[in-house]
Amino acid sequence: MSKKRVLVTGATGRTGLLVVNKLRQLSDKFEVFGFARNYEKVKELFDSTEGFFIGNISDESSLETALKGCDCLVIVTSAVPKMKAPPQEGKPPEFEFEPGGMPEEVDWIGQKNQIDIAKKLGINQIVLVGSMGGTNPNHPLNKIGNGNILIWKRKAEEYLINSGINYTIIRAGGLINEPGGKRELIVGKNDTLLENPPNGISTVIPREDVAELVVQSLIETTAKNKAFDVITKPEDDSSAVITKDFASLFEQATPGL
Ligand SMILES: NC(=O)c1ccc[n+]([C@@H]2O[C@H](COP(=O)([O-])OP(=O)(O)OC[C@H]3O[C@@H](n4cnc5c(N)ncnc54)[C@H](OP(=O)(O)O)[C@@H]3O)[C@@H](O)[C@H]2O)c1
Repeated sequence: MSKKRVLVTGATGRTGLLVVNKLRQLSDKFEVFGFARNYEKVKELFDSTEGFFIGNISDESSLETALKGCDCLVIVTSAVPKMKAPPQEGKPPEFEFEPGGMPEEVDWIGQKNQIDIAKKLGINQIVLVGSMGGTNPNHPLNKIGNGNILIWKRKAEEYLINSGINYTIIRAGGLINEPGGKRELIVGKNDTLLENPPNGISTVIPREDVAELVVQSLIETTAKNKAFDVITKPEDDSSAVITKDFASLFEQATPGL
């Protein structure tokens, strides 16, 4: 079978970096390219800029250049809130988004740009990493910098579903920097895991497990045209069965938003 050519956007992000590295390890299956906005950051994280396109998801021509000839697109871009100033004692820290970096611009228009260009170029599959919490307009994450980040992310998810391109939408719980491959993954829908987690477990997932889900979504056909929330059982949970069979996991997920 011929290799799939994949572009990963948000490749210098904390999850995007893991996705690129995991896909590169499967060089018999994938030819991997990264898309990032900062040349120096690429050099710092990957030692080399080989296999990278430098651009911005608000700049359609840079996206089109990078996506040309690809079979699949992995979207791991996201608006990134920055702390305004060191928090004052007794007060919670305040966050804001940089000019041009508001969620509406990045998580809606920027994602829409990627989907539109993918459609124009006949890309076969898009894997999108999103976030749980999007069914609740009053979710605290929406208050950050008045960005309504989860609302814009969900709008982009809906747009992708309606685009006609094969999609896999991975709506992660809280991301943690713990080792992957050590937990049982649990999938859900419509934030029910967030509102009512089994046995009251913490609704988190290691970034490495999210990156593995992206890779497996590009391999397993049962991941196609599915959108799901995902968290993990704690690593020390005696009832947990470490997830290894991703085809079966994706079978539990359903199409549509
Ligand atoms: N944090 C959580 O607990 C949590 C929970 C659930 C889901 N999620 C979602 O999971 C995904 C991955 O999260 P993460 O924390 O690993 O991501 P992250 O480190 O914040 O990375 C976001 C990436 O988007 C890139 N980006 C932002 N604006 C861009 C633009 N205009 N053009 C090109 N690239 C742009 C950033 O570029 P630079 O590298 O140049 O900054 C960065 O690489 C995100 O969608 C996030 O919302 C997060």
